[in-house]
Amino acid sequence: MGLVLSEYEHSILEGKKGEAARLAMEVIVALGNAFGARELVKVASVQAMAHYGSLHDAGVDWLERLASLGGRCCVPCTQDPSSIPFHCWSDLGIPPEYADKQMRLAKAVVALGEIPSWTCTPYYVGNVPRFGQNVAWAESSAVSFANSVLGARTERVPAGLAVCAALTGRIPRTGLYLDENRAGSILVKVEAGPLSGIDYPALGYILGTKAGTRIPVLDGISADVTNDDLKNLGAAAATSGSVALYHVPGVTPEALTGDPFHGGRPSVELSVTRRDIEATKQTLTTGCLSDVDLVVLGCPHYSIWELQRTALLLAGRKVRLGRRIWIHTSAEAEQVAARMGLLEILREAGATVLAQNCLVISPLCIKGVRTIATDSGKAAGYLPCEHRVRLVFTSTEECIASVTE
Ligand code: F3S
Repeated sequence: MGLVLSEYEHSILEGKKGEAARLAMEVIVALGNAFGARELVKVASVQAMAHYGSLHDAGVDWLERLASLGGRCCVPCTQDPSSIPFHCWSDLGIPPEYADKQMRLAKAVVALGEIPSWTCTPYYVGNVPRFGQNVAWAESSAVSFANSVLGARTERVPAGLAVCAALTGRIPRTGLYLDENRAGSILVKVEAGPLSGIDYPALGYILGTKAGTRIPVLDGISADVTNDDLKNLGAAAATSGSVALYHVPGVTPEALTGDPFHGGRPSVELSVTRRDIEATKQTLTTGCLSDVDLVVLGCPHYSIWELQRTALLLAGRKVRLGRRIWIHTSAEAEQVAARMGLLEILREAGATVLAQNCLVISPLCIKGVRTIATDSGKAAGYLPCEHRVRLVFTSTEECIASVTE
């Protein structure tokens, strides 16, 4: 049996809601048929991508075409980070022709009625789905957070497709939109003692390599774990593997009290020890702390709490000559940080806050940088190949100490 559309969905396909929505629905239906979906699901919000580093010229053409056809989002749609920091791209060596392509994307995004949030942590800036709500989110770290921490439901929506969901309010009902696909399938016993901030992305990295696309259930995580820790764990697990949902009994909503295996049994049981976590930190580290030229923090984008922590660590210190600290965050967190006096402390110390942007998806000029230090498992996974640098994966404290006096 093929995909069955409702009357409303048919009307979109017939062009009754405009040509852009018709085109978008055509894509959604083709995808639904390719994946064997029986129906479409209504989505409450979209997290889309319009960074030129991922969409390239084809993406610019696609979004501009939809905008020129009069496309308008029918559900709230936030945006992943931009490939340029909008206010200071020229200071950072980004070629004007590259910036121009990103600006065209930004213009199209606004014309389409998307919310130009430019952050990978939309759940910290107002795009907060409720438990059980269906959404269509691109950005693997945000997908992990939505599914696991918020208990919303989303597949890993491809970058160019998310806008189709925003214009139609629909996505094929496949994968994680279905109850039966949300059960845990492997049990991971965390036997590493108390976990510090940097242990969570390290654990996430291990999780991704072991779980691949399966759904891990983590036993042994303290109920005190913070949302930021879970954010950093999920981002790393979606980098080394394709983990889009994990459960933590007593912590994450689908495993608060119920059985995360839905009555089944885990196909695999494994344990992660302190030694595994330390070994992962070493594997991701290819450079020396004493050689660090640039510290990159905020992948995924730092929350206001993480910004505050970093400001406290930097208070009274100075970035050494020839060294840099870049902190990526949302514009909203940056504004709150300014109101709290934190931006002043960060700038006084010599750190640079690059809001709405990130190094992984940017051609920011890092000429002369040979070694980067980061506290992010995701950045540790991507930066060495994206920017051909050596890497040190370590705690925020050590990152900061390595380039300050
Ligand atoms: Fe966000 Fe960029 Fe990291 S999009 S998750 S800061 S790679």
